[in-house]
Amino acid sequence: MKQDYKIKDIGLADLGRKKITISEKEMPGLMSLRKQYASEKPLKGFRLTGSLHMTKETAILIETLKDLGADVRWASCNIFSTQDEAAAAIAATGTPVYAWKGETLEEYWDCTLQALTFDNNLGPNLLVDDGGDATLLIHKGYELENYFNEHQSYPDITTTNSEEIVIENLIRKVHQLNANHWHNIVPDIIGVSEETTTGVARLIQMEQDNKLLFAAFNVNDSATKSKFDNLYGCRESLVDGIKRATEVMMAGKTVVVCGYGDVGKGCAQSMRSYGCKVVVTEIDPICALQAAMEGYEVKTLESVLNKGHLFVTTTGNKDIITLEHIRGMRDQAIVCNIGHFDNEIQVDALNDSDATREQIKPQYDKYTFPDGKEIFLLAEGRLVNLGCATGHASFVMSTSFANQVLAQIFLADRKPEIGLYDLPKELDEEVARLHLNHLDAELTILTDNQAQYIGVNKNGPFKKDEYRY
Ligand code: NAD
Ligand code: ADE
Repeated sequence: MKQDYKIKDIGLADLGRKKITISEKEMPGLMSLRKQYASEKPLKGFRLTGSLHMTKETAILIETLKDLGADVRWASCNIFSTQDEAAAAIAATGTPVYAWKGETLEEYWDCTLQALTFDNNLGPNLLVDDGGDATLLIHKGYELENYFNEHQSYPDITTTNSEEIVIENLIRKVHQLNANHWHNIVPDIIGVSEETTTGVARLIQMEQDNKLLFAAFNVNDSATKSKFDNLYGCRESLVDGIKRATEVMMAGKTVVVCGYGDVGKGCAQSMRSYGCKVVVTEIDPICALQAAMEGYEVKTLESVLNKGHLFVTTTGNKDIITLEHIRGMRDQAIVCNIGHFDNEIQVDALNDSDATREQIKPQYDKYTFPDGKEIFLLAEGRLVNLGCATGHASFVMSTSFANQVLAQIFLADRKPEIGLYDLPKELDEEVARLHLNHLDAELTILTDNQAQYIGVNKNGPFKKDEYRY
């Protein structure tokens, strides 16, 4: 039988299984959804592709989706984020997985294509995406076929971005094998559930441009995702990445956190808890004022370049730390990013600059400038918590992934029209409820009178949709 996986080492499967077994008890949301839907199997008969960091937590998500009946194929959504033992454990169960730590960009996009390609060249019915790369590849391939049908030729590749060139080359290769590949698979796609802020931003753009080819669920904006994973997850996994890479003492250092959204808030709080002096940069006056009233200094990056010992980007925006910024930093400053993509720091410009790069170990590089100044870059500018450590801990991923599973059940059951959807608040509250017991948290029950007085149903929802938590 054809080996339908590509991973680092299948010999790591036992280690992966041991870690998965421990984490299952820390993921009560996923485990209770397994129990709840075990007999109904709402995903039975659906082909499902995942493009999401291939960690042990994701392994438990995959096995939940399989338990619910889905036929699953998986790739990671970042070249550095795979835990090879988790990928091995999944491959050993016969689930096709294409992911290993340290992929090249060409390998990464090939893995995404493999995850999207089921037997007989069929595509998925359902997608779980984190950052939108699976969705992007489908849309780019579809657009290329449209262009070719109109012009009988390919458009010139005008981008100079190396990753975009890889994608353009890949979709041309697919086109040469089958000129209708993406048009054949798109009609079977019911929808995608998107995990992260940056992926949702891409979906909003596509919807505004009328380019969406299928329905999309915004999992990120469930309160039990963005107000937990982005905040409490990063509060612990940021420092895990920094310390595993550098082993540096945090206390007393000046840390500059760029961006004070959900991720930035978690990062700033974490750094303060280690005794760091935290400086925040923001473009949004509301977030800037929040940071100031939490007691952080709020400054422009330019004004604190030579003060910071450590710089963390958390914005989901690009060109936050430029080469010129890096030139202005002090000797031995550490630079890292925890946002989804690596364009927050100008890594290409740094690599092309007069600084000499020396790898201390994978995902930990020292750049020495001609004047002798040294700058450390973590995970080549990719998300430091998953590149240099193992990402968020299992418990918080259970809240995120319970939302993913509920969104998938919703898509499979309701087959909604093309559009961008949020999960209903009842389900958001249900996800939270599934996690209370594990922390010995007791919920107070409203009396009938109290419920009437504040104008809510006794069993929820307890807040209006606009409530911000
Ligand atoms: P968010 O929108 O809540 O916060 C981003 C903040 O950055 C906003 O407040 C925005 O005003 C600010 N910002 C934008 N441009 C800026 C600039 N030039 N300078 C300073 N601030 C600027 O988003 P979020 O939910 O906090 O997510 C941030 C990023 O982290 C996204 O890319 C998201 O996908 C990613 N993410 C990563 C992880 C992880 O585990 N690594 C987890 C969750 C989210
Ligand atoms: N995102 C952040 N941490 C993660 C983890 N442990 N698994 C999957 N996705 C993640």
